Amino acid sequence: MKKYNIAVVGASGMVGGELLGLLESRRFPVGEFYAFNSGRKPARVIFRGKKYACSAPSFEALRKADIAFFVSNEEVSEKFAPRLAAAGVWCVDDSSQFRLAAGVPLVIPEVNGAELKPARRLIAGPNCTLTGAAVALAGIHRKFRVTELRIATYQAVSGAGKAAMRCLEEELRGYFKTGRVPVLKDRKFPHPIAFNLFPQVGGFDAAGNTGEENKVEAELKKIWGDSRVKISCTSVRVPVLRGHSLALWFKTARPCSPAALRAELRRTDGLAFFEKPEDYPTPLKHGDRTDVVYAGRLRRAKTAANEYQLWVVSDNLYKGAALNSVQIAERIVKL
Ligand SMILES: NC(=O)c1ccc[n+]([C@@H]2O[C@H](COP(=O)([O-])OP(=O)(O)OC[C@H]3O[C@@H](n4cnc5c(N)ncnc54)[C@H](OP(=O)(O)O)[C@@H]3O)[C@@H](O)[C@H]2O)c1
Repeated sequence: MKKYNIAVVGASGMVGGELLGLLESRRFPVGEFYAFNSGRKPARVIFRGKKYACSAPSFEALRKADIAFFVSNEEVSEKFAPRLAAAGVWCVDDSSQFRLAAGVPLVIPEVNGAELKPARRLIAGPNCTLTGAAVALAGIHRKFRVTELRIATYQAVSGAGKAAMRCLEEELRGYFKTGRVPVLKDRKFPHPIAFNLFPQVGGFDAAGNTGEENKVEAELKKIWGDSRVKISCTSVRVPVLRGHSLALWFKTARPCSPAALRAELRRTDGLAFFEKPEDYPTPLKHGDRTDVVYAGRLRRAKTAANEYQLWVVSDNLYKGAALNSVQIAERIVKL
């Protein structure tokens, strides 16, 4: 079997750690392996039982790879990915840098895997929040056309990386020591997150929407290849460690029924659908190292005859990032 030299830029991060584990557990045919971090502090990762020292990336070092996974930040992706892709290296980018760029496919394999083409070597993976909605409603959108979609998100702390996880841990430790949640000096969020939540993920635009809310709208439209669908979102950060949850309200153009929607959800690729109302998914059980998106509590909304509600949970670090990237790689080696 042909083997592929793999580079992971951001190997010491939250998504990077999961990516390494998935390449190993899914037996991706890895030849040489190269691990990169910021180079600011020494870090080692373990891959297939062997320790690798991480170093700062350079174009020459990355060029040795057949596939480079970018799981660091926008600046790093911008600096290396387009040039590497032009040189023939497959670049799978989890940052938001190129998601909306023309000519860069934004891919969830089970939703729009046909976008992957041999000539398009730079591929973006979507924001971890919208992945659940994009997968759960993909079949319903194809069959009944979603015209309007309202989303309230409940986003885990790990979605903001390892520094955010450290903040939550420190706040909790402080609370159990003193009885008060400390306000940390170098906190990652606008407010303490322990025993709290806030409707702000990212900065605000002039209209009062956050960066995350705008990403959800724009990226979902691109993935579904449909700019007509009206999307409005409120993104909320909650003190959950892992697993993003979504409350969805959607209207359809074509007439449907709860039974027809249930049938569609049952056959949607990459989705596990719970039929009984009391069997709904939760992040602790269904958002932690899970390969599929989970949905439940489908019901007719009380606000309009053609409006329905659905509850969705997915693992932001797996399907929202590392697993989706590995699944992209599994497809591109077959192109
Ligand atoms: N967390 C999620 O749920 C999620 C979901 C979808 C997409 N993403 C995206 O995935 C990327 C990684 O997120 P994360 O949550 O894993 O962040 P993280 O835990 O903060 O990890 C960031 C990683 O990037 C490395 N890095 C930072 N600056 C670098 C530089 N100049 N050159 C090379 N490497 C550098 C860090 O290395 P050091 O350890 O040396 O700092 C670390 O390995 C981000 O673009 C994020 O938007 C994250």
